[in-house]
Amino acid sequence: MNTKTTVISKEQLDAQFAYCDKISALWQERGRTPSAYVETYGCQQNEADSERIRGILKEAGYAMTDCAEGADVVVMNTCAIREHAEQRVFGNLGALTHTKRRHPDQKIFLCGCMAGQTVVTDRLKKSYPHVDGVFSTHHLWQFAEILYRVLTTGKRQFFIEDEAGSIAEGLPLLRDRTLKAWVSIMYGCNNFCTYCIVPYVRGRERSRKKEDILRECRELIASGCREITLLGQNVNSYGKDLPDGVDFSDLLAEIAQLPGDFLIRFMTSHPRDAGKKLFDTMARYPKIARQLHLPFQSGSSRVLKAMNRHYDREQYLALVEYARSVMPDLVLTSDVIVGFPGETEEEFEETVSLIAQVRYDALFTFLFSPRTGTPAASMEDPTPREEKNRRFDRLCNVQNEISESIHRGYVGKTLRCLIDGTENGLLTARTEGGRLVRLEGEESLVGSFRNVCITGSTTWSLTGKLAEEGA
Ligand code: SAH
Ligand code: SF4
Ligand code: F3S
Repeated sequence: MNTKTTVISKEQLDAQFAYCDKISALWQERGRTPSAYVETYGCQQNEADSERIRGILKEAGYAMTDCAEGADVVVMNTCAIREHAEQRVFGNLGALTHTKRRHPDQKIFLCGCMAGQTVVTDRLKKSYPHVDGVFSTHHLWQFAEILYRVLTTGKRQFFIEDEAGSIAEGLPLLRDRTLKAWVSIMYGCNNFCTYCIVPYVRGRERSRKKEDILRECRELIASGCREITLLGQNVNSYGKDLPDGVDFSDLLAEIAQLPGDFLIRFMTSHPRDAGKKLFDTMARYPKIARQLHLPFQSGSSRVLKAMNRHYDREQYLALVEYARSVMPDLVLTSDVIVGFPGETEEEFEETVSLIAQVRYDALFTFLFSPRTGTPAASMEDPTPREEKNRRFDRLCNVQNEISESIHRGYVGKTLRCLIDGTENGLLTARTEGGRLVRLEGEESLVGSFRNVCITGSTTWSLTGKLAEEGA
């Protein structure tokens, strides 16, 4: 595996902008504006990457559409985290043979986390001849060049070499939304949890410079953004690869002191690197949302060791206890894997008891899915599928009851919420902890922070009404 991170130079980027100009000129000759459709799978990291892909396409003269039918370019930005995610992509990719038959000049690209895997590339080469270009996350910055080559040579392009990864500042960006924004602060992951494909497809950890991140945040706030979510697979190790000694808490504190009315969120925190300094910083600055996504994965220390998570049950619980001691109103969410190879019934019960002890506001529950090339994929796994499904259902039931009861506890409280949209004639809003609230009100309120009195609750969301001004 290649381990050297590269920084993309200004000359390299200028060359990409030149490809955009050439593509644009090509369409001008043809006398029409081309259209593009970008479909995103997976996590926020991919959402953020899709904004860059759209930025490049816009720079090359493309207008965005919201379906593949009739689009001149289709980009599938894929996720490899579980087998199910990959199956969905292959299914939808198969369906694109029909859209291409109706529009033979359509160019189809596959990128994102699936594109870095040899097994996937081999399958695409052999069985999906209608895919014109494939590029891994490391080659995203070269998309203009790849598109240009496809358009001018008609040959399939594969940009998939194994790399440690790069940092490209200054790529064009076309954001989906104005009110909320993703800001990547780092890329890649060094943790190699034994079940996880991410370190193989996203390369080594590399942090963006603090100044570049602050500049992006300032611009976002000036353009009306009210909620910034800082992104990284493991935000707590931000800065370890930078020369200036700045860590994630320092970065958070600096962003939190920028002027303006906005809220900062971040994900994901790895319990291994999260600690007192982070929680004290969160408690200190009102612009940092008191919300923490702290994946625990398993309640059993034996399983955590087999997962290579570098913390045990007691250490995890101590972290949560400290976080809550400095932020009693902290909203806590987490990820958990059910059915890791060799997980016994007792070990599973330890997971259930951890959930009951911590009482998360919400939990993302996953059934273990073996990923080719990861250590866990070749571990012995004697537990039958039906048994794993039973554990999964039991866990969901326990959690649903907890979420429901926590939500019920909100009723009667007044909370400051960001009104972020409309849905079926109602306003939607988010509490500081990220809980969804539906309420009546004028559409003109979208984009403002308001006090909302919570009047009702379900397992997944809340209802409310606008509180009197000054309430
Ligand atoms: N970087 C983040 C997680 C990214 S993946 C972190 O470390 O917390 C999101 C979640 O998917 C993980 O937290 C894990 O719960 C789940 N996941 C990852 N690989 C998986 C696999 N092979 N099978 C099932 N769930 C998996
Ligand atoms: Fe995957 Fe672990 Fe890295 Fe998260 S920290 S991306 S689970 S290897
Ligand atoms: Fe999926 Fe890649 Fe994210 S594998 S979860 S899109 S980092």
